[in-house]
Amino acid sequence: MAKKTKKKNVTKKAKKNSKHDTQAISTNLIIQKKRDGGSLTTEEVKWFIDGYTAGTIPDYQMSALLMAIFIRGFNTTETAALTDSMLYSGDVLDFKDITVIDKHSTGGIGDKTSFILAPIAAACGVKVPMIAGRGLGHTGGTVDKVESIKGFNTSLTMKQFSEQLKKKGQVMIGQTKEIAPADKKIYGLRDVTGTVESIPLITASIMSKKLAEGASGIVMDVKTGSGAFMQTLPDAKALAKSIRETALRFNKNIITMITNMDEPLGHYIGNSLEMIESIETLRGKGPKDLTDLSVELAGAMIYLAKKAPTLKAGVKMAQEALDSGVALDKFRELIALQGGDASYVDDYSKFPMAEYATDIIAPKNGYVKSIDGKALGLYVVDLGGGRKASADKIDFGVGFVTFKKVGDKVKKGEKIVTVYHHKHQAPIIKRIEKEMFERVFEIAAKPGKKIPLIIETTTSWSK
Ligand code: URA
Repeated sequence: MAKKTKKKNVTKKAKKNSKHDTQAISTNLIIQKKRDGGSLTTEEVKWFIDGYTAGTIPDYQMSALLMAIFIRGFNTTETAALTDSMLYSGDVLDFKDITVIDKHSTGGIGDKTSFILAPIAAACGVKVPMIAGRGLGHTGGTVDKVESIKGFNTSLTMKQFSEQLKKKGQVMIGQTKEIAPADKKIYGLRDVTGTVESIPLITASIMSKKLAEGASGIVMDVKTGSGAFMQTLPDAKALAKSIRETALRFNKNIITMITNMDEPLGHYIGNSLEMIESIETLRGKGPKDLTDLSVELAGAMIYLAKKAPTLKAGVKMAQEALDSGVALDKFRELIALQGGDASYVDDYSKFPMAEYATDIIAPKNGYVKSIDGKALGLYVVDLGGGRKASADKIDFGVGFVTFKKVGDKVKKGEKIVTVYHHKHQAPIIKRIEKEMFERVFEIAAKPGKKIPLIIETTTSWSK
């Protein structure tokens, strides 16, 4: 089992703080300080996070601070303090003897690369420890998606997690109460308080989990565009830089890739649908953008693990693992290892699917100028495929299949989208049909500008 360290007993400390009769005032003063544009000290940040994790600071005060951070921002020292406090809110694994490489995405629409790159990288000898998220805002979550496979257990104990990683080279779980519990609580709160799209909050959220799971290297897919949290390239670059700086501060090797999320990745959006498209991609029959990005990210993991001498050589190894079918076998193995029904891989009818499929038809000839991925993601949430409140149950069977990409030619009467939904959702479907060509697909006389899939790759070695 990996060595676990816990820098301090957060719970005890926060409980002690709670007895302090000035707590309400102090909490309020910290919120006011940030609201008015002040910089918080490391002690203030730590005190607040410890108190929230221990339950002595309530959701409403944490929400207020999150909104103040969202609006006023955090400087580098405050972001570092936040990352530290969240990281050491739980156990920190340390796989001293093995090189463990993870990948994380800042979140997008149709982003399902984890299911493809994890088995590819594992097939190439990389140890892949995935502690993945649930849906956040308009973006879907890896854990919600993989749970559409019956029996797949995303709640392993830390002992099971470490053992499976060491013996089998790949593991995929959701956030546990041991790993960065502060993030688990704060993530759920941000999802329902409009405080997701913030560089310091995203940096601390991602890095606290990645650092705690014991990865020695991290590949970070920073999404930019209409379906991403960072909609502009300068914001995506700033987030990538913030994440790199944090990784280096903790002596971790990191590759950041800024990638295009101006249109959904692949064609399928929704939990079961995305699993089906991932498996098709592992069969070598996936869409080009999804295949290319998964192979590039897996190649970067192979390179960071020093299983390949260059990034290019890593990508070549990744492509070979995909083409030979070894990666698909590895994915079957992953499902079985975690108690899932691996026969889903060969029989897609087993995935939960909504009983209705409504086609949406192009109203005119032209070219696709743009696709608003965020709007599609929000429709999936409206249909029940994501959460509006933390306790909402996910509907695996709803979602979209899109048939066009930016730049494609469109003929009047041609099918552009199929929506999978339930009978009682007819009013939502009516609205989606009405809005599809007002808000989501812009059809124009000329094709839209195609943005490269991978915009910028930066490799930083810690030593
Ligand atoms: N992914 C995370 O884990 N956290 C965020 O805040 C955004 C994306």
